[in-house]
Amino acid sequence: MNSPAMQGLAINAPGHVKNAKLVAWVADMAALCKPESIYWCDGSQEEYDRLCAQLVGAGTFKKLNEAKRPNSFLACSDPSDVARVEDRTYICSVSKESAGPTNNWMAPDEMRATLNPLFDGCMKGRTMYVVPFSMGPLGSPIAHIGIELSDSPYVAVNMRIMTRMGKAVYDVLGVNGEFVPCVHTVGAPLAAGQADVSWPCNKTKYIVHYPETREIWSYGSGYGGNALLGKKCFALRIASNMGRDEGWLAEHMLILGVTNPQGKKYHVAAAFPSACGKTNFAMLIPPAGFEGWSVTTIGDDIAWIKPQADGTLRAINPEAGYFGVAPGTNTLTNPNCMASLNENVIFTNVALTDDGDVWWEGMGDAPAHAIDWQGKDWTPAIAKETGAKAAHPNARFTVAAANNPALDPEWDNPAGVKIDAFIFGGRRSTTVPLVTEARNWTEGVYMAATMGSETTAAAFGQQGVVRRDPFAMLPFMGYNMSDYFQHWLNLGKKLEASGAKLPGIYCVNWFRKGEDGKFVWPGYGENMRVLKWMIDRIEGKANKGTEHAIGTSPSYEELNWTGLDFTAEQFKTVTSIDTAAWLAELKLHDELFTQLAYHLPAELTATKAQIEKRLAA
Ligand code: GTP
Ligand code: SPV
Ligand code: MN
Repeated sequence: MNSPAMQGLAINAPGHVKNAKLVAWVADMAALCKPESIYWCDGSQEEYDRLCAQLVGAGTFKKLNEAKRPNSFLACSDPSDVARVEDRTYICSVSKESAGPTNNWMAPDEMRATLNPLFDGCMKGRTMYVVPFSMGPLGSPIAHIGIELSDSPYVAVNMRIMTRMGKAVYDVLGVNGEFVPCVHTVGAPLAAGQADVSWPCNKTKYIVHYPETREIWSYGSGYGGNALLGKKCFALRIASNMGRDEGWLAEHMLILGVTNPQGKKYHVAAAFPSACGKTNFAMLIPPAGFEGWSVTTIGDDIAWIKPQADGTLRAINPEAGYFGVAPGTNTLTNPNCMASLNENVIFTNVALTDDGDVWWEGMGDAPAHAIDWQGKDWTPAIAKETGAKAAHPNARFTVAAANNPALDPEWDNPAGVKIDAFIFGGRRSTTVPLVTEARNWTEGVYMAATMGSETTAAAFGQQGVVRRDPFAMLPFMGYNMSDYFQHWLNLGKKLEASGAKLPGIYCVNWFRKGEDGKFVWPGYGENMRVLKWMIDRIEGKANKGTEHAIGTSPSYEELNWTGLDFTAEQFKTVTSIDTAAWLAELKLHDELFTQLAYHLPAELTATKAQIEKRLAA
């Protein structure tokens, strides 16, 4: 056995680590990856500060101006490592059918044979950080534990913000507890005496999931969802498999609380694809005309949703921080978010101003000069001439949920919050109306399953092309998409059988454009007007809406327009149903259903036939 002890590397597990399986696995991984040393993270502030200082020393972090942005840092990545890599992401289930047609697949044995030589010695010259984390409140019955082994200190400090990370995880894990093993390497071993670069990575990348053994292996990237393995890899791709087996849902959804002037509170979970407005909607501030209303944040990206014995659904946010899109965020579009970014923030790929602060496109007045995310001089004149962006379009901030002034008091409640409505929404410049209510659960599942959205900078590849993104889960589904649709349908039947009122299901689109190519709907805080209409519907208020081929949408009079100048004509532009456009849209649904034919629920094909009939009428 090629044990690390034999190579002179002791595992040196601290005394509080008593899980034999964990210790053995760390030893195995150390033997494979051959790091120079192993460091067991304890999650303390002292450790965070020390690792941040170390990252400053290594050139990965720049410390920002302490007076303007206390205890905050800027990291700029390698220009080739700026977003999730969907074409390099694999679901390695035993059978190809289990991964389904929307996922890259390789047989587990074949993938292991591919990865083993890549991981052999991949951490040479580096420290392997052992990062213990809990997705969900520590010790809660709905939480799950993961251990990430990573050779990136950037990952270790980000994980401390994004998850409940630290020593206390080992108490919960105990001697025999279960954990999801997550191995991550930037894939850049250092030879003796070789100088490091500020953002090590490898042009070869693999983001690999083994659903049956619930393992994650990530190679070659240090960025976001590729590297912070608690997030998409665990809380969505592996957790969706757990949810299928155990009867719950792991979703790419924000969760918000909305309280009306009478003090009655509702909870809404909304699935929008990457960079399509979840963080914004979760932090919404009600505009003029909504005095007495408030919106509070439970989560901004991921929801774990569990059915209860009484037929209700309760949801938790498994994360502890936000890894949000910076560009486009400002004090007008998202004041709560801007306030969250005042201190204790890690920024990645934004611009550095001359006074040691940060700037990005859409933040406000441009500085006369800055250093762009690639380390080059940037001025408004250069931008005008070359189109150079100061911040990368997928530049992000990492910040603790506790920084959010609108954080919901229940956000950390292990029992979660009761869900009253689901919203699904894509980024569509045409066709899809501002808001539509599904007539029933099955039609809601149909809406979610057939949702289309224009691709964004959150994933590497072409941007702005409409693709089907079922449930905003296309890049995050850990098993066969059609089986997942069935899982949703089954859940609806189960809830119905218990006699409970099912959550309403809505489809929204904030992104319809006019002939001038500009967004017609003002969006952001004004989305409150649409949210209130939904709440009115749930409360059974008089608003009957107008029923059409796809579902039910509000008439102009049913929205509160106080404080906003938005004409009936403009409203028509964002709500009209163009029959020809919808017939073309249904052809795209057809293509999706052909791709997903294996195990596609018959109810969805039947729903489609009904919509076609209504459109023809
Ligand atoms: P991920 O973190 O990638 O999953 O994305 P997200 O859904 O949380 O996206 P986020 O809220 O960060 O929004 C990303 C972009 O959408 C930003 O550039 C926003 O300015 C823009 N955006 C958000 N809400 C609206 C809206 O209501 N209208 C318009 N036009 N743009 C919006
Ligand atoms: C997304 O792409 O949906 C994100 C960012 O939330 S990342 O964590 O990089 O996946
Ligand atoms: Mn996301």
